[in-house]
Amino acid sequence: MTFHPVGPASDFPDPSSTLVEVDDAPVVLIHAAGHFYALDDVCTHDGGPLSDGPLDPEEKTIACPRHGAKFDLKSGAALTMPATKATAAHEVKVEDGQVLVRLVG
Ligand code: FES
Repeated sequence: MTFHPVGPASDFPDPSSTLVEVDDAPVVLIHAAGHFYALDDVCTHDGGPLSDGPLDPEEKTIACPRHGAKFDLKSGAALTMPATKATAAHEVKVEDGQVLVRLVG
């Protein structure tokens, strides 16, 4: 899998969570506390869009807007019920001011 450009880093304020498409897959790109993260934009409980849920930059979590399950920004791990499975965490890097995402898994 290759890295795909998703836009200039300046398009993603800190903090923010933005739905982007990477290779036709919905990915939530998160900028929080100086770091970028990319997770599948699909809650493992019942498919809720994580990009619509509240981001907690200090706790490094994003919550599903449907039933509130929280996911770890770095690992994608499901931290609270009702989700029990991790969502995929993808690789992100910034090069020449561009944010690049490589799908993992
Ligand atoms: S769909 Fe995400 S917590 Fe239920």
